[in-house]
Amino acid sequence: MADHDTSKFGPGSVIGILGGGQLGRMTALAAARLGYRCQIFAPESGGPASQVSAGETIAQYDDLDALARFAEAVDVATFEFENVPVASVERLLQSVPVRPGPKALAVAQDRLVEKSFLRSIDIPTAPFYEVNNASELQASVGELSAPAVLKTVRLGYDGKGQVLIQPDSNLSDAFLEMGADRGVLEKWIDFRMEMSVILARGIDGKTVTFDPAENRHKHHILDTTIVPARVPGSVAEEARALAERIADALGLVGLLAVELFVTHDDNIIVNEIAPRPHNSGHWTMNACDTCQFEQFVRAICGQPLGSTNRYADAVMTNLVGEGVNDWKKALRQPDLHLHLYGKDEARAGRKMGHVNRILSLGAVADDSEI
Ligand SMILES: Nc1ncnc2c1ncn2[C@@H]1O[C@H](COP(=O)(O)OP(=O)(O)O)[C@@H](O)[C@H]1O
Ligand SMILES: [Mg+2]
Repeated sequence: MADHDTSKFGPGSVIGILGGGQLGRMTALAAARLGYRCQIFAPESGGPASQVSAGETIAQYDDLDALARFAEAVDVATFEFENVPVASVERLLQSVPVRPGPKALAVAQDRLVEKSFLRSIDIPTAPFYEVNNASELQASVGELSAPAVLKTVRLGYDGKGQVLIQPDSNLSDAFLEMGADRGVLEKWIDFRMEMSVILARGIDGKTVTFDPAENRHKHHILDTTIVPARVPGSVAEEARALAERIADALGLVGLLAVELFVTHDDNIIVNEIAPRPHNSGHWTMNACDTCQFEQFVRAICGQPLGSTNRYADAVMTNLVGEGVNDWKKALRQPDLHLHLYGKDEARAGRKMGHVNRILSLGAVADDSEI
């Protein structure tokens, strides 16, 4: 199946999703609203996505026989997280379109490839060096000078596999602490805001972007997303333009989330990208004409994209671990929309759900308390 495949899939078609978490769940819910069915491929049965889908295939992501069976059962396939092997997507591509394709996946799942790709298309990133052992770390810290952050090249999420390097850090210990043998050392950016922009791109190459959002993290996990981001209009426009350039360069069909740092002098630095729905886009479920999940479904099925018009300001708060116990409070408040992911065990650091608080247009800019 060629990269430029433009086949369209209408309601009644089956969308195959690699990954069974909350992003798959909310995609499946949006797909169901439009009359599609979803088949989930995941290593464990009964997860958040399977609970709301027509079927599931239970196997490891590199099980080629299971992937072949899955491909028979679906019309078009996608993934809801980046750590799916590229070879698995290539196997699926022998039988069905996979959107986005292997290029976006390969770039997003390897920090070094990602940063090098961004640099190659003149997108500003934090200065970085590849680091494969403690002595390379020593040399790189010499170049960048502390503070800096050492990150694993693969499989990092929610700050896992990251070590902050301070001027007095023991670099041999820091390399071991990273817990992997390939890393990237990045200059620490003294940002004034973290921001993200989510874009949808259709099979015809047309793109739409949602309003850029302001993100706050707690313990490296996204805590709150505030929309609209309180930046000058020119910064928001620049963020959208960067996302468009990245999506075009990847030839992406689907969704692209771009995580950005905004510096004190209003420059933008791209932190990382994700070719899928993103936690910082959950506010779109209650504040936009078309939410990120519906845009995702429309894009991968080759259908026209919807309007990203935002009719409210919004504050999204993640319910992490025991924070999920706030669900009762949320149900009592009329301006709150509760979304729970159907996970049984509220382990520390686990994303259990989120709450969207809907505010009138302009309320975010006017409220210094937010
Ligand atoms: N170079 C950096 N300078 C300052 N803060 C950073 C830097 N890199 C990461 N961070 C902080 O750590 C968070 C998680 O890092 P990120 O690269 O996005 O990895 P993850 O894959 O875990 O989301 C970021 O959202 C940001 O708050
Ligand atoms: Mg991140």
